[in-house]
Amino acid sequence: MTKVAVLGASGQIAKLAEELLLEDDSNELVLFLRHPNKLDKSKIDEKCEKIVIGDASRSDEVANAIKGVDIVYANLAGGNIEEQAKAVVKAMDDENVKRLIWISSLGVYDEVPGKFGDWNKNILGSYLRTYRAAADQITTSDLDYTVIRPAWLTNKDEIDYETTHGAHTPFKGTEVSRKSVASYINELIKNPTKDVRDNVGLNKPNTDGDKPAWY
Ligand SMILES: NC(=O)c1ccc[n+]([C@@H]2O[C@H](COP(=O)([O-])OP(=O)(O)OC[C@H]3O[C@@H](n4cnc5c(N)ncnc54)[C@H](OP(=O)(O)O)[C@@H]3O)[C@@H](O)[C@H]2O)c1
Repeated sequence: MTKVAVLGASGQIAKLAEELLLEDDSNELVLFLRHPNKLDKSKIDEKCEKIVIGDASRSDEVANAIKGVDIVYANLAGGNIEEQAKAVVKAMDDENVKRLIWISSLGVYDEVPGKFGDWNKNILGSYLRTYRAAADQITTSDLDYTVIRPAWLTNKDEIDYETTHGAHTPFKGTEVSRKSVASYINELIKNPTKDVRDNVGLNKPNTDGDKPAWY
């Protein structure tokens, strides 16, 4: 049995990941979120899903949710993401939980090459600095983290991705589907030693360009 706490459980990638994780009867999920009305309660299976209401910037509230879990998967967002990262690390230290999957973004290490890298920096601006500060909280911790840096996200109904490893390895491609990110997260959870203490870029193959295709 693997017990996974999903922080930001009503997030778009999180919901897709939850669906995949629940295909395996041996997974149990703790769904941590601020607004439980954003989950479809009629679809919650109380045998393997538990809802905990809380704010990820409050380490006591995160600690309460992650007691006894094997893995924390953080699908968080917002201008206070660094504060949330600090709270998650503290809660995990306090509860002695080691394994963390953290969703970040392409570009936080200025690792996106060429014209697309310049475009990305222009569009994302201070978001990248904020997300970098959050990622630094994770990578300087002693947790068994995997930081995931997805390309620009799409809602395409496809699983098609490749990975680049290491924060400063040049990023590939421009886009990736949320479903692909969810699938990679499922792979990490199925294989507990996969990509531990790694910083992973995720993109759809053959999508190199100066901008994502829809811009
Ligand atoms: N859009 C892109 O192209 C792109 C590319 C790369 C990376 N990313 C990043 O990838 C991440 C995941 O993407 P996504 O599409 O799944 O994002 P999303 O749907 O916006 O999910 C983020 C979740 O974080 C939750 N959250 C925010 N602050 C919280 C807090 N203090 N406590 C608890 N929950 C909190 C939000 O819940 P509430 O309902 O409570 O607000 C929301 O459910 C985001 O950080 C996004 O910025 C995006």
